[in-house]
Amino acid sequence: AEQEAFYRDEIAKELKRQNAVLVAHYYCDPVLQALAEETGGCVSDSLEMARFGNQHSAQTVLVAGVKFMGETAKILNPEKRVLMPTLEATCSLDLGCPVDEFATFCDQHPQRTVVVYANTSAAVKARADWVVTSSCAVEIVEHLMDNGESIIWAPDQHLGLYIQNKTGADMLLWDGACIVHEEFKARQLEEMKALYPEAAVLVHPESPTAVIDLADAVGSTSQLIAAAQRMPNKTFIVATDRGIFYKMQQLCPDKEFVAAPTAGNGAACRSCANCPWMAMNTLQRTLQCLREGSNEVFVDPALIPRAIKPLQRMLDFTQ
Ligand code: 13P
Ligand code: SF4
Repeated sequence: AEQEAFYRDEIAKELKRQNAVLVAHYYCDPVLQALAEETGGCVSDSLEMARFGNQHSAQTVLVAGVKFMGETAKILNPEKRVLMPTLEATCSLDLGCPVDEFATFCDQHPQRTVVVYANTSAAVKARADWVVTSSCAVEIVEHLMDNGESIIWAPDQHLGLYIQNKTGADMLLWDGACIVHEEFKARQLEEMKALYPEAAVLVHPESPTAVIDLADAVGSTSQLIAAAQRMPNKTFIVATDRGIFYKMQQLCPDKEFVAAPTAGNGAACRSCANCPWMAMNTLQRTLQCLREGSNEVFVDPALIPRAIKPLQRMLDFTQ
């Protein structure tokens, strides 16, 4: 605890001294989430992280999250310095969608509009017409449908299926998955629902379809937190990374939050509702990168003009 207090103080001092702002995702260690808020930064879902970093006047944006979040901040703000506690924190969706294969896939279907999830590399974004996050994916696809467009969707197959089922859009789906959310199991969730008959089920749409089908609310991390506040239930079963419990509990102190079951339930499960890459963001690394100016995020300048277009479209659409 003493060490934690030391790191928090030092990080806060460095942020001030360097005119830097800390932007954290809800899956990060609660101590980083709290620090982001206390120091005038923000903790949010991936869409709001992008918007906050873009609108804030700080010259340095410190992004606690995974690689695509740092890259998004850099693409939108090439003139700012973007730092991350680690540059090793990737995402299985980003890894599962290499740009060469993806570009070939797109070239085979030139008449389709290319819509990609924010959880992708800068190079994949540069090949896209639209970037979306889970908080705006359905609305943007509906908008494209209204224009009579057919779609290529990548990389998350579960989110893609969810959008397709919801909108009826003509979508060709890439077969990527999130290693955290794909572990949630529908059968065990049904058993858990029987144990908590008055609980509401909150599900992030990167989860398998059978799990989404059991949900009372589906949405981005911010939308799930809003649902927990809005819904009258006293208990919630939550199918997403457990980092989100910090904010849910803070905003709803009288409610109870239970993690949805995963395959191994602790034993065999690789990720157990806890993203291994998000967990790489520690206080120690945060202070180190600020002090040393290390782990600066760079995006190939040749990609930036192309990658910024679909990102800016998303920001404009969701304003
Ligand atoms: P959100 O956009 O809902 O914050 O999700 C990002 C993410 O990586 C979920 O796994
Ligand atoms: Fe990627 Fe899943 Fe981790 Fe989110 S939780 S960053 S989608 S691996």
